[in-house]
Amino acid sequence: MNNYLYTISIFMLIIQCHFKWSLAELKSRNDVINHLGTRTPYRFRFNKHDDRIKYPKCKDTKIWMIVRHGTRLPSAENIMGMYNELHELKNLIILQNKLGKENGISLSGNLNKEQIKGFKDWSCNLNVEEAKFLTLEGKDEMILLAERTRKRFPNAIKHKYDNKTFLFRFTATQRAHQSARYFTQGLFSHSDAQNVEFAPATKVDHVLRFYKHCDKWQKQVKKNPDTYKEQVLLANSSEMNRTLESVTKRLGLSRPVTLDEVNLMYKICGYETSWNKFDVSPWCYAFDTESAEILEYYHDLKHYWMDGYGHNLTYRQACLALQTMFKMFRSDHDPFATFLFAHSGTLVKILTHLELFKPEQPLTAGLIDKTRQWKASYIDCFASNLAFVLYKCKDGDHVLTLFQERPIKLPMCDKELCPLKQLEHYFYDSIHKCNYADLCNLDKEEKDKNSQ
Ligand SMILES: *[C@@H]1O[C@H](CO)[C@@H](O)[C@H](O)[C@H]1NC(C)=O
Ligand SMILES: *[C@@H]1O[C@H](CO)[C@@H](O)[C@H](O)[C@H]1NC(C)=O
Ligand SMILES: *[C@@H]1O[C@H](CO)[C@@H](O)[C@H](O)[C@H]1NC(C)=O
Ligand SMILES: *[C@@H]1O[C@H](CO)[C@@H](O)[C@H](O)[C@H]1NC(C)=O
Repeated sequence: MNNYLYTISIFMLIIQCHFKWSLAELKSRNDVINHLGTRTPYRFRFNKHDDRIKYPKCKDTKIWMIVRHGTRLPSAENIMGMYNELHELKNLIILQNKLGKENGISLSGNLNKEQIKGFKDWSCNLNVEEAKFLTLEGKDEMILLAERTRKRFPNAIKHKYDNKTFLFRFTATQRAHQSARYFTQGLFSHSDAQNVEFAPATKVDHVLRFYKHCDKWQKQVKKNPDTYKEQVLLANSSEMNRTLESVTKRLGLSRPVTLDEVNLMYKICGYETSWNKFDVSPWCYAFDTESAEILEYYHDLKHYWMDGYGHNLTYRQACLALQTMFKMFRSDHDPFATFLFAHSGTLVKILTHLELFKPEQPLTAGLIDKTRQWKASYIDCFASNLAFVLYKCKDGDHVLTLFQERPIKLPMCDKELCPLKQLEHYFYDSIHKCNYADLCNLDKEEKDKNSQ
């Protein structure tokens, strides 16, 4: 093929894909994809402006960044759910919509012909052994995020890799490991990326997953039924009953769907939207904006009480990660650029420690505030990221904070560019009184009670 034809065909391909995508997303005709919670893809949220971020008489000097892994595959349990429950539902939807149409009765739901075809064409070909693995979309998220980040801070992020300037760490999971690898590919040349050394990943990691083995948090928060109280209340509410009825009706089913089924459809709608930019997941057809908002809130409730403002200890322990940033910004010999690859549970606790996205009142089942700041769809999407950049300025050291690549003003600062000294003062305890044993070891009497 000559060059000219080749260019034309590539161009056509781009047009075609683009067209298909916009048409498809238009066709869903509602706002469901803005309520996907922790399964929201990063392409809905990133900041495409990647100009250098400059301040007068300042120079970007160091960067400390923590990233949630990119879009991943579902858990083994959810993959099994796709093979079992969702296949069963798919057949039921196709059958009952056919019957409904033939008899012209009210059974048939709100699905149109094309949506029914979407269900007919749907199948699952995932392998349980690949549960939670990073997807191709996740790979793209990391490469592009790294490219943009490097452009914004060309002095803090040197062009050439060397093992003294850069520190890369990830948790002992495939998705965090692969995220780190692809990020370095976006940061460096091909040959440099191959030489990157990663800090060894350990099962127990007090910085990247400080909560996972924190006995006190496990006992007082994660395994505490109170943490799930509001979520259980919502599950049992008339609001949820109406949501289940609405999904049942949309799908044209003759028996009510269960909360477990709706939850699974909601999750797979999120995953399939994330990893496939070109087609609409038929499972998203189960929802209108309102029912998607209820499912979103159902998960936000748990997030709030487990990973957010619900319990003191949850966010106090995040000092274990933040401490390393302050240490690096004060030090003369530590690395100049630190990139950490972790999980939703890590990021959200750090955001809470920084007092960001705090709702005006605790989240409860009874009062759904649709304008709340605390929405996983915005603050906890795939590849969610938080960065601190140290600027050396004529009037001293300053810190710029970026969330999802956008400069933000921390609540305890006056401006986006905040004096390091002011932050160190505000977070004195987080820096100097942050001890894993104090935070996490169960008191002796609690331990005795536990072992009885
Ligand atoms: C860093 O790289 C240098 C050579 O480029 C090597 O000698 C040294 O061992 C490396 N350091 C570490 C900690 O791997
Ligand atoms: C759910 O509601 C029913 C009826 O209102 C009640 O009997 C049941 O105990 C509730 N369950 C929970 C877990 O709250
Ligand atoms: C909703 O509540 C009504 C009345 O209690 C009940 O008949 C119906 O089965 C419930 N729907 C679902 C989906 O649970
Ligand atoms: C939260 O922790 C502080 C001490 O750091 C304590 O004074 C306060 O009572 C705690 N709040 C709750 C609700 O436990």
